[in-house]
Amino acid sequence: MIGVFDSGHGGLTVLRALTERLPDRGFVYLGDHAHAPYGDRDAEDVYGLTITNIERLFAMDCQLVILACNTAAAVALRRLQRTWLDDAWPGRRVLGVLVPVVEAIVRQPWHVEEPHIGPDAPQETVAIFATRRTVESRAYVGEILKRAPDVLIVQQACPGLVDAIEAGAPQDQIKGLVEEFVGELLRSMQGVLPDVAVLGCTHYGLAAKAFREALPPGTAILHQPQLVAESLADYLVRHPEFAADPISAGRIEFLTTGDAHAVSRLARRFYGANVTFRGVS
Ligand code: DGL
Repeated sequence: MIGVFDSGHGGLTVLRALTERLPDRGFVYLGDHAHAPYGDRDAEDVYGLTITNIERLFAMDCQLVILACNTAAAVALRRLQRTWLDDAWPGRRVLGVLVPVVEAIVRQPWHVEEPHIGPDAPQETVAIFATRRTVESRAYVGEILKRAPDVLIVQQACPGLVDAIEAGAPQDQIKGLVEEFVGELLRSMQGVLPDVAVLGCTHYGLAAKAFREALPPGTAILHQPQLVAESLADYLVRHPEFAADPISAGRIEFLTTGDAHAVSRLARRFYGANVTFRGVS
């Protein structure tokens, strides 16, 4: 089984894309609803919670875990890969959701860290909407500019948007918040319009329509779940050690650290189908 982790419901948008792209795989989804949202927590806190939940998935025999949470991936992934994973869980792997987005923007594979320069180098203006913690980590900025120094990046934190989405707030309220954040970003850009927008929080996919309406018509929105699904499919081809297990093919389990009943009730919005969560202590 492949583990998929998010602070709450947002990662279900990624899980949906993964199950469609990889129907022969089994998945265990874990939402840390008891501690969501992560976006305003301090970095140490996010790191500790992320490790705890990855360990839960490893203990369930997931060999590979996808951090379907930009905040966890931005704050914790590099650190845990460098300092913890190989010693604590040799052979296991953790992947995040930033890498496929960065690859799409810089138009070169992740492992190529040399700057993409020359006449075909990316020169777009990229707007990144994310949680406060993801913005402060500057993970997107650092990884993109290292590879594509001519790209102009503008970040916009959207505090409160995850809470509203996670609480199932009405569309009008979501629309109002999104208009406020897009307006703030556009004012800071002083007339320059973004070519590309990244909804750099898996929850924001649920507000994609509001972002589409608030952003200039010429701004393309990257679809993170699809990019992640394509990237994982490619990774699995290159890593036969994570071969599909026929027993778990097509199986999907939904776990939460929160109130399973309440979480299940809201899940349809994110996943597009009814699902039943089971609680983990
Ligand atoms: N959905 C997560 C993300 O992609 C986290 C949101 C939150 O918990 O604040 O950033």
